[in-house]
Amino acid sequence: MLAEPLLQRLAEARHVVALTGAGISAESGVPTFRDAQTGLWARYRAEELATPAAFLAEPRLVWDWYAWRRSLTRRAQPNAGHAALVQLERLLPRLTLITQNVDGLHARAGSRNVLELHGNLDTTLCFDEGTVVTEYTDDGRTPPRCPRCGGLLRPGVVWFGESLPKATLEQAEVAAASCDVLLSVGTSSLVHPAAGLPLAAKRHGAVLLEVNPTATPLTPHVDAALSGPAGLLLPELARQLERLRGRLAPSD
Ligand code: OAD
Repeated sequence: MLAEPLLQRLAEARHVVALTGAGISAESGVPTFRDAQTGLWARYRAEELATPAAFLAEPRLVWDWYAWRRSLTRRAQPNAGHAALVQLERLLPRLTLITQNVDGLHARAGSRNVLELHGNLDTTLCFDEGTVVTEYTDDGRTPPRCPRCGGLLRPGVVWFGESLPKATLEQAEVAAASCDVLLSVGTSSLVHPAAGLPLAAKRHGAVLLEVNPTATPLTPHVDAALSGPAGLLLPELARQLERLRGRLAPSD
């Protein structure tokens, strides 16, 4: 587990950032982005479906794929890793949770300060206008159409080649530049700009910790790589922190 000096840094941190990726939801049964897909979708690669060009070429296919992912995530339950991040939010003076996930499981677990860098599967946008559409009628067409302009509706997630929501990215960058510890969990650290946040934090003097069963391009830069599943290691980390806090607390 985490060595005592690093645990101490975590315990003394005024601001901690947790950056999560698909790996944190793996134990909830949500396939990670780069896992081979199963069933109906086995012959498609996620990276090829998650683009504006794919949607324009085959809107029904892409809409159906996201509908399938939405049905998976709605059935999924937050796991012990999500719960441990809720606990860390309670234990630490300030925790900013930045996620690349679109499954909404952090909020469902009870995390409050969550920045969703890549949008949310439960949001729907008009492809032409870029506006959020909260109500539309299901007239049997796939994808459904925008009630205002008749354009195609699309999921409110960020696709390859698209910009991240500006205000959310700015908040994430400010958090990374001002945190004392950044904890990267369950991300392959391949997709920018999210993948750049830990290194930005390090440039500003933060301690970097990583939780992942496999090494990533970030691993050589971290102060500690905790190798294993988030559902096991994050609760252990929260327990270690709680124990240390108990030891440090003034006795009366
Ligand atoms: P990936 O699918 O690229 O990576 C998932 C990571 O989770 C891998 O490094 C796994 O080793 C790790 N992992 C698997 N099981 C785990 C577990 N139980 N506990 C901890 N880690 C585990 O997913 P992301 O890094 O999130 O963006 O991908 C980043 C972005 O790429 C996604 O948000 C998506 C995709 O393109 C967009 O769609 C814009």
